[in-house]
Amino acid sequence: MKRIYKIMMVAMVSAFAFAACQQPANQNETNNNQTKEPLAMKDQNGKYVLPELPYAHDALEPYIDKMTMEIHHGKHHQAYVTNLNNAISGTEMENMDLMDIFKNMSQYPVAVRNNGGGHWNHTFFWEIMGSNAGGKPSGKLLSAIEKRFESFDKFKEEFSKAGATRFGSGWAWLIVDSNGELQVSSTPNQDNPFMDVADIKGLPVLGVDVWEHAYYLKYQNRRPEYLENFWSVVNWNEVARRYEEAVK
Ligand SMILES: [Fe+2]
Repeated sequence: MKRIYKIMMVAMVSAFAFAACQQPANQNETNNNQTKEPLAMKDQNGKYVLPELPYAHDALEPYIDKMTMEIHHGKHHQAYVTNLNNAISGTEMENMDLMDIFKNMSQYPVAVRNNGGGHWNHTFFWEIMGSNAGGKPSGKLLSAIEKRFESFDKFKEEFSKAGATRFGSGWAWLIVDSNGELQVSSTPNQDNPFMDVADIKGLPVLGVDVWEHAYYLKYQNRRPEYLENFWSVVNWNEVARRYEEAVK
């Protein structure tokens, strides 16, 4: 009898501890606009891995739909990770930092450019979005945007135009250039502003994926509408953190 009582007590304590562990995770889910730990792009063995989304697949609804997020993250991003690992396998690139490869991108294989860019760009993209997001930045970032683009609305116009006019597939960016100035730019395919092949180089603080796979299920050919709604999911806390890091 004593033994049964003991087992019941252990089970109750375990259940309570499990429920307590779940609490912070649930709280985080309701406030996805908080800045979190950077997403891991590699595992402990140095293999590139698909990072978990920092929010649920439906967290960006109604602006970005659940199915698009499931396919975009689980299939497209996963494919970049798999293909990147395959492309660097058995080469010196296995032990290199992706940033060092990007800096000299023109000297490395196109498969690494496409899939290394794809992995970094998407990891970044998941981080600069969130639920209960959108609105306007504040503080130093807002001042810098207003100084550079006259107003926040004019900046939005220029950024959206860069995304809308990127022919085919690619990205629009807000970057900090080597003079510490904000610039709007765009890159084709999975290129990014770290790469020596980019027209305008710098540190990205905001970016939007304008590949059709990012919006076609919900918006079909209406890329400008997707870009308009993108503003409702921008995690300005994360963008501001990156800006302040970039101008340090
Ligand atoms: Fe994408």
